[in-house]
Amino acid sequence: MAILDILKLPDPRLKQVSAPVERFDAELEDFIADLEETRLAGPAAVGIAAPQVGRLQRILILDVSARPKTPNHGHLVLVNPEILHWEGYAIGREGCLSVPDYTGNVIRATSIRLQAQDPEGRRQEYRMEGFEARAAQHELDHLDGLLFVDRVVSRRTDLYRRKVYKS
Ligand code: NI
Repeated sequence: MAILDILKLPDPRLKQVSAPVERFDAELEDFIADLEETRLAGPAAVGIAAPQVGRLQRILILDVSARPKTPNHGHLVLVNPEILHWEGYAIGREGCLSVPDYTGNVIRATSIRLQAQDPEGRRQEYRMEGFEARAAQHELDHLDGLLFVDRVVSRRTDLYRRKVYKS
């Protein structure tokens, strides 16, 4: 296992559209283990997408279970995910491992129906709401080369510089 380097804005690889996974093999499992280790290595991210470590394939990990009072499916590895249905919308604050210096207000659907494959290639369907739905939409955007900063209504009023604490 290994902790992978996280690409940061403005790395052009973050702007690429990722390709579907076609081979569900041991190499994919090894990569997913590395991606998970990378997600947990930093400031506990609720999600991470393969292109954030330079692998341009449609793979993401999602786990919002540490957040209190949030309905969720626990730890999910989503391969070739697709949103089938969107409902409602709400504005909410987002951050991203690839945009370490800012958070931003982004409008997302409040509930979604999502289809994906698991690491063995089996098809699964999920209904998500609230923060888990938001996190899924954020991570799926990475697979299409979009960052939350591309979604803020106004870069002038909806982006916030993170406080940096010097030790
Ligand atoms: Ni992100």
